[in-house]
Amino acid sequence: MAIIESNKITKKYIKTSYDIRRPFRVEREEKVAVSGFDLEIEKGEFVGFLGSNGAGKTTFLKILSGIMHPTSGTAKVMGYTPWERDYRYLRQMAIVMGQKNQLWWDLPAIDSYNLLQAIYDIPDSRYKKNLEMMMEVLDMKDLLGKRLRNMSLGERMKCELAASFLHDPKVVFLDEPTIGLDVVSSRSIRKFLKMMNEEQKCTFILTSHYIGDIEELCKRVLIITKGEKVYDGTLLKLKERYAPNKRIEVFLQNLEDKKTFAHLSVKEKKIEENKGIIYADKSALGEITKEVFSKFSLENILISDADTEEIIRKIFGQK
Ligand SMILES: Nc1ncnc2c1ncn2[C@@H]1O[C@H](COP(=O)(O)OP(=O)(O)OP(=O)(O)O)[C@@H](O)[C@H]1O
Ligand SMILES: [Mg+2]
Repeated sequence: MAIIESNKITKKYIKTSYDIRRPFRVEREEKVAVSGFDLEIEKGEFVGFLGSNGAGKTTFLKILSGIMHPTSGTAKVMGYTPWERDYRYLRQMAIVMGQKNQLWWDLPAIDSYNLLQAIYDIPDSRYKKNLEMMMEVLDMKDLLGKRLRNMSLGERMKCELAASFLHDPKVVFLDEPTIGLDVVSSRSIRKFLKMMNEEQKCTFILTSHYIGDIEELCKRVLIITKGEKVYDGTLLKLKERYAPNKRIEVFLQNLEDKKTFAHLSVKEKKIEENKGIIYADKSALGEITKEVFSKFSLENILISDADTEEIIRKIFGQK
């Protein structure tokens, strides 16, 4: 049985709008944030959830985590209906939101953790073991005594993340956990998440606008556009389906090179600083490379598969 399943989940918000000329008249209209979302996720999967701003990702995660009721549809996570907020369900799941604080702002991290231990009734030995492991992997030993409000964004995020794993959740919803973080902090967070997935078989749904997070952690991705699921499959297939293209990069060393590049007969090309980029369909690759190789020297040309970011941009641009 799937550990997470949803059936035609729909969420409508009431959108209020005001006309500045008639300030006392409020217009109300329905806004569909999530529309008929079906989903099945097996235990131990790490699923990436992609979509442009306002696509409905956070709304859907709030429904699955029980923060919000859907307007219609059904869902079961570990056999529980999330929005019934059964205590047994809440003890086995976690939601981490990069945009929101969940820990107590004025308390040192360790005090918040001790409170959570009491709330979740975590046995001492398990609590200590989990805390020690996280201190190590997330490199946050020095942070325990620090108040949350005095921490940097990256430090705070590590503490928030650690807090969400103290009670050994089996399903974790991650909503942009690496937002605004530098490469080093994001790397240690990814390493930690990967470990929890591989060793503890924790099931994850992750939303992130950083494609690096998705590429490193998720085999399967869901794409949501205007509340509707438009793709559910492997990242690999997504690349094949939307980008049979090759990417040809030409290093442009001077103005002359830029002019030559601009005069190439290829249509889909752009210049980014000192790089010329061409997206070539496989069928036209022979023709294009012939022309490029005749105008530029070999050591300045790089041919690779189109990158995931480009694919995502293409998909979101399409609808
Ligand atoms: N509480 C709310 N009341 C009214 N409308 C809302 C509410 N929360 C979200 N919305 C609207 O629902 C739509 C989906 O929002 P949601 O936050 O789920 O998007 P998202 O995919 O998480 O976007 P982002 O990538 O920007 O976080 C948006 O149009 C948003 O304005
Ligand atoms: Mg969001």
